[in-house]
Amino acid sequence: MSNELMQKKIEKAQQEIDAKKDIVKNGAMRQHYHFMAQTGWINDPNGLIYYKGKYHFFYQYNPYYGFWDYMHWGHAISDDMLHWEYLPLALAPSEFYDDHFRGGCFSGSAIEHDGKLFLMFTGTTNNGKGFEQTQCIAYSEDGIHFEKYEGNPVLTAPDGIPTYQFRDPKVWKHDGTYYMVCGASRDNKAQALLYRSKDMLHWEFFNVLAESRGEWGYMWECPDFYPMGDRYVLMFSPMGAGERTVVYLVGDFDYETGKFNYHINGEIDWGFDYYAPQSFLTPDGRRIIVGWANAWDWMPFWKDWGPTYKEGWCGSYNIPREVRMKEDGTLQFIPIKEIESLRVDAWNQETIIVSEKKTDIKAGDGISFEWKMQINLEETNADQLEIGLRCGEGKKTICIFDFKNAQMSVNRNEADGWSKGISKSVMYLKDRKELDVHILSDQSSIEIFTDDYQNNHSLNVFAGNAQNQIYLCAHGGQVVINNLETYGLTGCNQ
Ligand code: FRU
Repeated sequence: MSNELMQKKIEKAQQEIDAKKDIVKNGAMRQHYHFMAQTGWINDPNGLIYYKGKYHFFYQYNPYYGFWDYMHWGHAISDDMLHWEYLPLALAPSEFYDDHFRGGCFSGSAIEHDGKLFLMFTGTTNNGKGFEQTQCIAYSEDGIHFEKYEGNPVLTAPDGIPTYQFRDPKVWKHDGTYYMVCGASRDNKAQALLYRSKDMLHWEFFNVLAESRGEWGYMWECPDFYPMGDRYVLMFSPMGAGERTVVYLVGDFDYETGKFNYHINGEIDWGFDYYAPQSFLTPDGRRIIVGWANAWDWMPFWKDWGPTYKEGWCGSYNIPREVRMKEDGTLQFIPIKEIESLRVDAWNQETIIVSEKKTDIKAGDGISFEWKMQINLEETNADQLEIGLRCGEGKKTICIFDFKNAQMSVNRNEADGWSKGISKSVMYLKDRKELDVHILSDQSSIEIFTDDYQNNHSLNVFAGNAQNQIYLCAHGGQVVINNLETYGLTGCNQ
C-alpha cells in the first residue's frame, strides 16, 4: 500500500519535471559543469555511492519550483561525476512519518547490504506535536526503484533530544557491523550520535561520538565520519557557530567505546556557498566529498538564495573534492582529477611580472574556465595581489591575497548587482617560497583553492555573459607569477 502512494507521488513529480525541464535547461544562469537538478530546488547531496559500476548522487529535492519545500530525493548516475543521467526520483513523502508539506524525506546516506542498495533517511512530519524527525530505511533491488521499509521508522529521538533536532544519518560498515552517525542537539549543544546494527533494520544507540560544548554550535547537520589512514575524520555543518559552514575534526576512534577523540580542527571552505558535504569512496580508493553550493537563511552572512528561481531552479553542487591528509593530520580538498577531461584552449605563461597596472588574463571564454598558477613569494615584494574575476559592465568579483596582513578575501559586493559580502580567511605564509592558486569558474559560481588546497573559498556569482574579463594587479610593489595555465572548460550539462 504505502509504496503505491509513493509511486504516485513520484510519477506526479516526474510529470512536472518532464513538462518544465526543456525550458529550465535554457536558463541563462545554469551551470555548465557543476551538478544541478533538471528543475526546481536542490540542497544537500544524499546517498552518494559508487554502486554497480556507476556513481549515484541522490539529492534533497523539491521538483516543483526554485525554493525549499516538501523534500523528495532526486537521483542521477554518472561515470565520471561530471556527465549525468537523471533517473526517476528515489523517494517522495508518502507516509505518516515523512509526509508534511514543510518536511518530507530529509537527508541521509546509502550503503550496499544483502545485494541491495539501502537508503537511510530522516522522515520529517508534524502530526500536531511539532516537527518530528525519525530515521527510516528504503531499499532497492535494481538501484533505481525504491521501497520504504514497512517497519519504519527504525529510530526515534532518544530522551533529551528534541524531536525536531535528530537528523541526517550517515551509515558505514566496519568488521561486519553497520554504524550510523546522525546530528542532534542536547541542552542546546550539538551532538553526533552513534548507533550500530547487524542488519540495517534494527539499530541500537552506542555512544555520543562527539559533542559541542558550545564552541561548535547547538546542532550539527549532516555529520559524516570516515577513516583516513589510521585516523578518523568527523565533518559536520554546525548551526550556531558563527560564519563557519563546515568544520572538520581529525582524531582517533575506538570501536570498543564508540568515542572519537579529536585533536585537530579545520574548515573545509571559507566561502559563503559550501554546505552539508557528504563523502564516499571511488573504486580506486579516493575519498570524495560533495557539498551544496548555497547557504541557509539562519547564517549570519546570508542574503538570499540568488535569482535563479526566476528560471525555475535553484541550487548546484560544488565540484567534487578529493580529501587527502597531510603528515600533520590536516586535510586538503582537491578538485577531482576528472575535471581535466573538460579542458580546452590551454593558455600557458611561464612567468608574469604583475605591477600596479592591470594584466589581462585569458582563460577560455572568461566564464567557464580553470586557472592554475604559483605565486613566487621570494620574488614578490607587493603588499597585495588582486585577482579580478567575472569583470565587465562595471561589475567584478575581487579576490585579494594580502601578504602584509596575512589575509585572503573574496569580495562580491560589486559582483552582479545581487550578491553581497566578503569572505575572509587567514593566509599563513611564514617560510613559504611559493603559494599555489587554483580557480574554477562556472556560469554562476567561483571556487578558489589555495595553500595546498587547505584554504578554499566557494561563492555563487550571478554575473552576465558580458562579465568575462579577468585580470591580475599588484598593490605596493610587484608580484611574480610562475607556471600560469588556464583552460576553458566544456559544458557537460544538457
Ligand atoms: C541541511 C539540512 C539537513 C536536512 C535537510 C533538509 O542543509 O537542513 O539537516 O536534512 O537540509 O532539506
